[in-house]
Amino acid sequence: MELRIENLTKQYGSFLAVNDLSAVLTCGVYGLLGANGAGKTTLMRLLCDIQLPTTGTISYDGQDIREYGDRYRNVLGYLPQDFGYYPDFTAMKFLLYMSAIKGLSKGYARQRSLELLDEVGLLQVRDKKIKTFSGGMKQRLGIAQAMLNDPKILILDEPTAGLDPKERVRFRNLISSFSRNKIVLLSTHIVSDVEYIAGDILVMKKGKFIHEGKPDEIIHTVDGKVWECRVANGEVPSLEMKYNIGNMRTEGETTILRIICETKPLENAVNAAPNLEDLYLYYFSDEEEHII
Ligand SMILES: Nc1ncnc2c1ncn2[C@@H]1O[C@H](COP(=O)(O)OP(=O)(O)O)[C@@H](O)[C@H]1O
Ligand SMILES: [Mg+2]
Repeated sequence: MELRIENLTKQYGSFLAVNDLSAVLTCGVYGLLGANGAGKTTLMRLLCDIQLPTTGTISYDGQDIREYGDRYRNVLGYLPQDFGYYPDFTAMKFLLYMSAIKGLSKGYARQRSLELLDEVGLLQVRDKKIKTFSGGMKQRLGIAQAMLNDPKILILDEPTAGLDPKERVRFRNLISSFSRNKIVLLSTHIVSDVEYIAGDILVMKKGKFIHEGKPDEIIHTVDGKVWECRVANGEVPSLEMKYNIGNMRTEGETTILRIICETKPLENAVNAAPNLEDLYLYYFSDEEEHII
């Protein structure tokens, strides 16, 4: 099973939202990590055949997805970033409705909906209206609808945005349990989402993949650029102005700073082992406020 992206470009006017991307995705969970505006949603919409590329191709098992037509939709599950739930539908009715759209038979739809409601922990509330659901419950219903047709390719666009830490962990575990024998692509700007479940990470910036590989391999690209040093508390504000600073920990009159910098920032600074958060700060500190 293989999803192949070749020289994929999507242009809005003169703006390149997706800029000459190539990649091959096989079974496993891929984390698409990038700041807002990086082009993640655009790439996912292209992969779902909802938008047409300006140039380039996407092929599934050697055949252009444009040629598959409905057969491609049958192997695809998609949870859009701004998923439109029907607030007055119950969870069960919503899944039956989505099953009908996907062309599943009534009997199968019923059985599959109940099975999925159970798996995502919503079986007890299947007859409650969606407008009474929390953000986490809505997202769990969202992944359930993406799983209705038992897809081979599961595309989840920022599925954990807006969830509290407990719901986020629950949702991540759900994705892991659903990921067997599938190509799962999960976009996020939250480092900890991909740190735990992604086997491979695609780091996206301004329409390009700037890095791709296993979390460990990608983290190594910032080796030697992460420093720790202890400074007097009074020095912190000026250092914050001057450097890209990660974690800070105050101990009495002193603060231990984590500084992301090409060269040794201070005399007493020592190199620290980088993590994904450092990587994010290194590549995206110029883009936006980061969320961990
Ligand atoms: N329909 C559109 N028309 C014009 N520009 C768009 C359109 N959709 C997205 N963009 C622009 O493309 C860039 C990438 O957007 P998007 O794919 O939504 O990024 P992400 O999901 O990573 O936040 C953004 O700068 C956005 O403003
Ligand atoms: Mg997006």
